[in-house]
Amino acid sequence: MSPTEASPPLIDVHGLSKSFGSTRVLESIELRVGRGEVLVLIGPSGSGKTTLLRCLNGLEIADGGTVEVAGARAIDFSSTPPPKVLAALRDRSAMVFQHYNLFPHKTVLENIVEGPVIVQKRPRPEVLEEALALLERVGLSEKKDSYPFELSGGQQQRVGIVRALALKPQLLLFDEPTSALDPELIGDVLGLMKELAVEGWTMVIVTHELQFAREVADEVAFVDGGVIVERGTAQQMFSAPTQERTRQFLHRLLFPF
Ligand SMILES: Nc1ncnc2c1ncn2[C@@H]1O[C@H](COP(=O)(O)OP(=O)(O)O)[C@@H](O)[C@H]1O
Ligand SMILES: [Mg+2]
Repeated sequence: MSPTEASPPLIDVHGLSKSFGSTRVLESIELRVGRGEVLVLIGPSGSGKTTLLRCLNGLEIADGGTVEVAGARAIDFSSTPPPKVLAALRDRSAMVFQHYNLFPHKTVLENIVEGPVIVQKRPRPEVLEEALALLERVGLSEKKDSYPFELSGGQQQRVGIVRALALKPQLLLFDEPTSALDPELIGDVLGLMKELAVEGWTMVIVTHELQFAREVADEVAFVDGGVIVERGTAQQMFSAPTQERTRQFLHRLLFPF
């Protein structure tokens, strides 16, 4: 048995379900992601990908099933968990959004330190030092006092990623991080994400950048209609999907017209 198989998964989800009103959006999702692994989620619009990410970090409260992240006790969503339990779940992961979601009236640096200082109550000087080092790492030191509107989309998204890293999460969640970017700005963001994967971060990434998925994903899962239709390595999924729905989706992705 390899060490990954022997150690418990970082994410362990059983029977996760979520409805909005009478609409069933997630249906008995089973998910295991090992520490240091990268899972890419693909699937049509409205299939439940964002809702799944949001349930993993407690932004959305599932209405059935269990979620275990990073060795904390599994949270049972058959009843609404107490706020403390949800806050602890939130603290284990950090989300990177499609539209960056930076605070428009705060500088780059303030955007990064807000969560660690206000929510995690860590000492501001220490957080500032780490934030500056992270900005340096992504080549954005000189933008620390700029406002989001003064940055390109690619720069804003790299700040979005730095803001997530500054929270020192166990798990990084990315929701279509490059789909709002102009094509020439996508590479920098994917490049940074690739570095994070190599460094051993555990990541769940919703993306339709298939070449990136080939290079970075340990596993790709196809989500449709609130279920995981199939999963496998990128090679298996993109070259020889077993399900007709997956085949049709990939075909539409590769040959949109
Ligand atoms: N807050 C919400 N209230 C009601 N319906 C929602 C809400 N969020 C998502 N939905 C619905 O849930 C379904 C799945 O949405 P979503 O998870 O955003 O899919 P995806 O990210 O795959 O496009 C869609 O039909 C969407 O309209
Ligand atoms: Mg979505």
